[in-house]
Amino acid sequence: MRKKVSIVGSGNVGATAAHWIASKELADVVLIDIIEGVPQGKGLDLLEAMPIEKRDSYIIGTNDYADTANSDIVVITAGIPRKPGMSRDDLLNTNYKIMADVVGKVVKNSPNCILIIVSNPLDAMAQAAYKLSGFPRERVIGMAGVLDSARFRTFMADELKVSVENVTAFVLGGHGDTMVPLPRYSTVAGIPITELIAPDRLAQIVQRTRDGGAEIVKYLKTGSAYYAPSSATTEMVEAILKDKKKILPCAAYLDGEYGIKGLYVGVPVKLGAKGIEQIIQIKLTPEEQAALNKSADAVKELCGVIGV
Ligand code: LAC
Repeated sequence: MRKKVSIVGSGNVGATAAHWIASKELADVVLIDIIEGVPQGKGLDLLEAMPIEKRDSYIIGTNDYADTANSDIVVITAGIPRKPGMSRDDLLNTNYKIMADVVGKVVKNSPNCILIIVSNPLDAMAQAAYKLSGFPRERVIGMAGVLDSARFRTFMADELKVSVENVTAFVLGGHGDTMVPLPRYSTVAGIPITELIAPDRLAQIVQRTRDGGAEIVKYLKTGSAYYAPSSATTEMVEAILKDKKKILPCAAYLDGEYGIKGLYVGVPVKLGAKGIEQIIQIKLTPEEQAALNKSADAVKELCGVIGV
């Protein structure tokens, strides 16, 4: 049987995720939004590209949650995006209200699905979805680390003028100003990046990674990034649907791992058919652990505001 992925929110991130998923023929896609016509129009337009792309993914757009029934994965992108000068945290209250409405309807129609949360502020929204859904933590995953590490990889590959395929990167912590890119665990063809890029230059690249989302918002002015965020989401979808057991940095509910309890924070996890199949614990230096704790505190503060 075909796999089914529903995407809540037919804005730039949702529609572009539908595009990547369908063009890789990973699943049939249901694009759902409260705005009438937009998901239907974008869904049909994408469906009509399938003969050219030689893909048999079936795509529909809808305003009715009944159409999302029995999805294998539901990606939630719904919410307002940032405008220049806004932080992800400024979206908190509005997007929490949207999340509360959406999660109830998703869970009712797809009680066994895996939720991938993309709405910002990411870690707090993942925590909200976890609490609102009542799902086990394996089935509620936040997308951020794949995006942040892709940005880090892009900048490192560009700096060294090597293939992006040679560059791996690790980013821990919340998807915000306190995120923790880990140069020590980032490599080019297996060589630690710390041996290839001078410390001061590396520090600039780390800072650009932290500000990666804001850099795009500044250019776009009316919204935030969507190609890389939706590509990152698609990598997670693929790892789950193909049961790849792929280790990716994702926001996961920690229950004592890394010394953090009861909170969503970005860590490396193993993604497979069951969702998060393992939280990978790596050894951190005291400085790295302190940076991770600081990032967790920032997430905790936001969760406190919305009471999740
Ligand atoms: C970004 C937003 C989507 O990092 O959080 O681009």
